[in-house]
Amino acid sequence: MTDTLTPLLTSRWGNPDSWTLQAYLKAGGYEALKKALSQDAADVLNNVKDSGLRGRGGAGFPTGTKWSFLPPPDGGPRYLVVNADESEPGTCKDIPLMMADPHQLIEGAIITSYAIGCHHAFIYLRGEVVHVYRRLLGAVAEAKKAGYLGKDILGSGFDLELTVHAGAGAYICGEETALLDSLEGRRGQPRLKPPFPAVAGLYARPTVVNNVESIASVPWITLNGQEWWKSMGTEKSTGVAIYSLSGHVQQPGQYEAPLGITMRQLIDLAGGIRAGHELKFWMPGGSSTAMFTQEQLDVPLDYDSVVAAGSMLGTRALQVFDDSVCVVRAVSRWMDFYAHESCGKCTPCREGTFWLRSVLRRIEAGRGKPEDMQILEDIPKSIVGKAFCPLGDGAPSSLVSSLKYFRAEYEDHIENGRCPFDPKAAYLFKEVAA
Ligand SMILES: Cc1cc2nc3c(=O)[nH]c(=O)nc-3n(C[C@H](O)[C@H](O)[C@H](O)COP(=O)(O)O)c2cc1C
Ligand code: SF4
Repeated sequence: MTDTLTPLLTSRWGNPDSWTLQAYLKAGGYEALKKALSQDAADVLNNVKDSGLRGRGGAGFPTGTKWSFLPPPDGGPRYLVVNADESEPGTCKDIPLMMADPHQLIEGAIITSYAIGCHHAFIYLRGEVVHVYRRLLGAVAEAKKAGYLGKDILGSGFDLELTVHAGAGAYICGEETALLDSLEGRRGQPRLKPPFPAVAGLYARPTVVNNVESIASVPWITLNGQEWWKSMGTEKSTGVAIYSLSGHVQQPGQYEAPLGITMRQLIDLAGGIRAGHELKFWMPGGSSTAMFTQEQLDVPLDYDSVVAAGSMLGTRALQVFDDSVCVVRAVSRWMDFYAHESCGKCTPCREGTFWLRSVLRRIEAGRGKPEDMQILEDIPKSIVGKAFCPLGDGAPSSLVSSLKYFRAEYEDHIENGRCPFDPKAAYLFKEVAA
C-alpha cells in the first residue's frame, strides 16, 4: 500500500493528441499485442488469471477466471463484449479513458479476444456520449488501417473484427445480460441466470463481458507480467485502479492509485474538503453502495476491506458531500434515478422504487408523516434479495445506510415540516400526495 499515485491507465491522458494512433505508438502502444501474439493464447489467459486482476465494472469478479469459464471451442463463434455503458451515478472513469486513450482499450480488446479465441468483439457504449462514439470509431478505423484489426493481424494469422455499438442510453443496459439483449436489438432487460454469458451470451454463444477499465488493464499485465501487477495493491485486490473523486473536494478528478489506498489519502491528494466545510458523508462505489462517514476514512479501498466495513467498492465512484448537504435531498435524488431507471420487469423493484421516491419527496418537501419512517424501513426489505437483478438490490443502499447515520435528519424534516437546509423545499413536488 502506498499513498502515492501510480498513473498507468491514465498515464497518457495528458499527451498531445493522445487519442491518435501515432501518439499511442510513440508512447509504447501495441507492444503488448506483439508480445501476446508471439505467445500461446492459453499463456496470455493464464498470465491475466494469475495476476489476480478483478473486474472494474462493479462486482470485482476475477477477470482471468471469468475468461476460463468459456467452454472449449466447438468451431462456432465466441464473443468479447466490452461494457462501456458507464451509467452509475458518480462513475466517470471509462468515458475519459476512451476519450483520451481509445487505443489502450482497443489493444486490450484485441489481446483479450486472442486469449479467449474470439474473432468478433463489441464495445457497447452509451449513445449519448457522441463525442466518445466518434473517437472510438476513428480509433478503430486507424487500428484497422495499420493492421492491428481485421484479417491476419500483424501476420499472426489471427483475425478480429471490432464493432462499436451505441446504445440508446439506459442504466439497466449496463447490467451484462440486459446489455446483451440490447446489443441483439431487443429491449434491454436482464436475463435469468443461469445460463451465464460465458455459456450462452450474445446470440446464445459463449461470451465474455468485461468493463472498459478491466480490458484496458490487460495490455499492462501482458507487457509487464503478473508478478509486476501483483506487486501493487493488496494480496486479494491486486494492481492499480482509477478512483473518481467528485463533489466537495478542492480538486475533483481521476486519481489512479494502488488498490488499498484510503479515502483520507485520496482526499488529501485532492486538496482536501471545500474550504470552510467538513466532510459529512461519502459514497465508496457509486450511489448503489452504502454510504460512509468520517468513521471509515481509514478503511483500505480494496474489494474485501470495503465489504467488511459494510459497503462495496463498486466502481470507485467516490462522491464527497460536505456539511452543507441535506442527506434527505441527496438520497431523494438517487431514488428519483432508480425509480426512473428501474426496467419494470419485476414488481419489488418497479413498485418499491416508485413508492420510496414518493415518500422521500414528501419528506424532503416538509410534508412527511411520522409513519413515513417505518415505511422507509419496510420497503427496502421488500426489494433487497427479492428483486430480479442487482439494480433492485442496490437501489435502497443509500437510503438504508443514511438512516443508520442520519436518522435524526429525516425526523427533523417530518417533525418541523421543513428541510433544515432549505426551508423553500416546501415548493417542491406539489404532485406528491400529502
Ligand atoms: C444496473 C447495473 C448497471 C451496470 N452498469 C455497468 C456499467 O455501466 N459498466 C460495467 O462495466 N458494468 C456494469 N454493471 C456490471 C455488469 O453487469 C458486469 O458485472 C460487468 O460489466 C462485468 O465486467 P467486469 O468483470 O470487468 O467488472 C452493471 C450492473 C448492474 C446491475
Ligand atoms: S430489479 Fe429492477 S431493473 Fe432489475 S429486473 Fe427487476 S425491475 Fe428490472
